[in-house]
Amino acid sequence: MPRPYTYRLIAPSLLAADLAKIGEEVARAELAGADWMHLDVMDGQFVDNLTFGPPLIQCVRASTGLFLDVHLMICRPDHYLQRFIAAGADLITVHLEASHDVGQTLQRIRQAGRQVGLALNPATSLEAALPFLDQIDLLLCMTVVPGFGGQAFMPDVLEKIQAAAAIRAARGLGYHIEVDGGIDCVTAGPCAAAGANVLVAGSATYGAPDMARAIAQLRHA
Ligand code: DX5
Ligand code: ZN
Repeated sequence: MPRPYTYRLIAPSLLAADLAKIGEEVARAELAGADWMHLDVMDGQFVDNLTFGPPLIQCVRASTGLFLDVHLMICRPDHYLQRFIAAGADLITVHLEASHDVGQTLQRIRQAGRQVGLALNPATSLEAALPFLDQIDLLLCMTVVPGFGGQAFMPDVLEKIQAAAAIRAARGLGYHIEVDGGIDCVTAGPCAAAGANVLVAGSATYGAPDMARAIAQLRHA
């Protein structure tokens, strides 16, 4: 089995879909070749936007076999965790900057048999994540300040991605490195070259005239 991070995965973000027809929009991504479905949960406090929660994820779970990559941009991931597990998330990513005992939350995700993700805002240094790297399946390096789709990619984050890949090699770890925010066929290449293998894209997938073509471009950029 190759190390998980050696293959590229494309994760369309449902945030950019037409939410009036969620089932069709998930199926559209699946048919277009998506590897994962990225689900952005926002609570209006951790970020200045509100999206959806466990009931919607449960409906998506019932409608697709796609791997569900749930990105929690909420202040208290520990409080809501069990509901996202019950809703059928395959991977749950929590923010290091949220108000919780990070190590304990990661451990609870693991104990529930789900994959474990840790997210860092652009301003958060990789040093802050060092104590947790051996607990995770995925490190999400945000490439925009989270909260909204359609923002411009922040190239300064590339250095953090390179450092995260170097530390992974030095410690013999196997976590994916995911990027999220402003990823398109121009920014995907530099991210992949820096070491990212999971590419989240909202505008560049759902907003494209031909999603299959857009996903193929992201995969080969
Ligand atoms: C931003 C979200 C992203 C967002 C990406 O806070 O975490 O997942 O949907 O959207 P684009 O690809 O349009 O930047
Ligand atoms: Zn996201």
